[in-house]
Amino acid sequence: MTRADHRPVTTSTVPPAANGHVELRAVLGMFATGVTVVTSGRDLPHGMTANAFTSVSLDPAMVLVCVKRKSILHDTVLSQGAFAVSILSSGQEGLARYFASSSRPRDEREFATVPCQPGQHTGAPIVEGSLAWVECKLAAVYDGGDHSIFLGFILGTGRGDGSDALLFHGGRFCGVGSG
Ligand SMILES: Cc1cc2nc3c(=O)[nH]c(=O)nc-3n(C[C@H](O)[C@H](O)[C@H](O)COP(=O)(O)O)c2cc1C
Repeated sequence: MTRADHRPVTTSTVPPAANGHVELRAVLGMFATGVTVVTSGRDLPHGMTANAFTSVSLDPAMVLVCVKRKSILHDTVLSQGAFAVSILSSGQEGLARYFASSSRPRDEREFATVPCQPGQHTGAPIVEGSLAWVECKLAAVYDGGDHSIFLGFILGTGRGDGSDALLFHGGRFCGVGSG
């Protein structure tokens, strides 16, 4: 392979902040991810679609999720000290869009049309039809710019029946089967 094979098609030395960070979003969007709904709260729960979710440690069992500071979920996680993460299946694109929509209700109606069960450990809603879920106690909060990085100790896990994951790549939802 020659040097020329590695030549980038487009370059950007400083990610431009204008246009809603179009170039930065395009670059980072090349990283394919799964899609989750992060939830928190028992009596008045909130939820948010998130793909900035990753496993961190097996022993102790820990995960992290990056949540934008301005979201309602952000302060709910801080006040509850707990959250749940439902990993979406390929048939749950509508749910992913709903929990990413700024027009969804933010009061007790937020979950009115969403089939879910309160998590055993946190009371946070677990979305029905998810591939799997984790319930977490908030272990630490790190500064992540306009987001906070929530590190969670896993209190409990579960798995649904499905196996086909909802994916997000290049700004679009897509599905993948496990074969
Ligand atoms: C596929 C996808 C992934 C997203 N991932 C994240 C994420 O990891 N963290 C985050 O803070 N927002 C993420 N968002 C944006 C939030 O879901 C969206 O801004 C949501 O409306 C935030 O809740 P709020 O309306 O209460 O602010 C994502 C949106 C989509 C469509």
